[in-house]
Amino acid sequence: MRLLPPSIPDKNLLVGLDTSDDAGVYRLTDEIALIQTVDFFTPVVDDPYLFGQIAAANALSDVYAMGGKPLTVLNLVTFPTGKLDLSILARILEGGASKIQEAGAVLLGGHSIQDEEPKYGLSVTGVIHPDKIIANSGAKPGDYLVLTKPIGVGVVTTAIKRGLASAEIIDQAIQVMASLNAASSEVMQEVGVNACTDISGFGLLGHAMEMAKGSGVGLKLRFERIPLLTGTKEFAAQGAICGGSRSNLNFLAPDVDFASNISEIEQLIMADAITSGGLLISVPGERLDDLIQRLKEKDIQGAVIGNVIAESKGRIIVE
Ligand code: CO
Ligand code: CO
Ligand code: CO
Repeated sequence: MRLLPPSIPDKNLLVGLDTSDDAGVYRLTDEIALIQTVDFFTPVVDDPYLFGQIAAANALSDVYAMGGKPLTVLNLVTFPTGKLDLSILARILEGGASKIQEAGAVLLGGHSIQDEEPKYGLSVTGVIHPDKIIANSGAKPGDYLVLTKPIGVGVVTTAIKRGLASAEIIDQAIQVMASLNAASSEVMQEVGVNACTDISGFGLLGHAMEMAKGSGVGLKLRFERIPLLTGTKEFAAQGAICGGSRSNLNFLAPDVDFASNISEIEQLIMADAITSGGLLISVPGERLDDLIQRLKEKDIQGAVIGNVIAESKGRIIVE
């Protein structure tokens, strides 16, 4: 069911609600457009400092996914004062501040209210040149699809909650979630790409679907090429799959053609609800090597997970 009314037409509204993009973009002048986004959620890990880092990295990511630069942020906080010690809140905010600083953005303020459980995130304002916006709706047949972080965060965090994951695996998942998409975003601006989105709650499959529908193209993904966090397949086989991932798959399945060798577990992994995932970039074939090479120079492993086709518009084929 559609909850939001359509965007009100405005000559300066460059990216609105209609293509399910990562952030909204509004032109201020011929040189500068504002990018705005907001994200907050309940803790995904026990450590309050790391939770703060992950929530901030996740919120900043929607600006990076548009190819923009974050400028200012506001904290959004709910906290059960009286039930939890305020030092926990201080650690969450400290973690967030560390990522805001790493992004080169400035914290201007925020708002907090009393609630049953802690929630944290940011409202982020960024800037971009109006001609350089990288929307999720620009993918073209012939493009290659590059993913900059492994998936499986939803499975692994569910496994952590059930006590299945080793310290090493927990660590790896946290590092992936807390890392900024800043360098990947900078590289794709330099190279010149056709489309981008970041992977979050709708899963790789869901965000790829938004790209397919927004761009009016078909996407072909190869499961074997998709990088997974260590343990993802094993934990998923043990049932460590969150409800969100199942509903993602149920919602998306009518528009996905899975090859018969892709198991149900593998389908669920592709729909896995992710926190602070990587960028999914649609790059013209002649620029693919340049993109991969420049990512490598920044220590980012760009995985080529599929390509864009003219057929199967608004659908995804998984092989
Ligand atoms: Co996003
Ligand atoms: Co978002
Ligand atoms: Co206020």
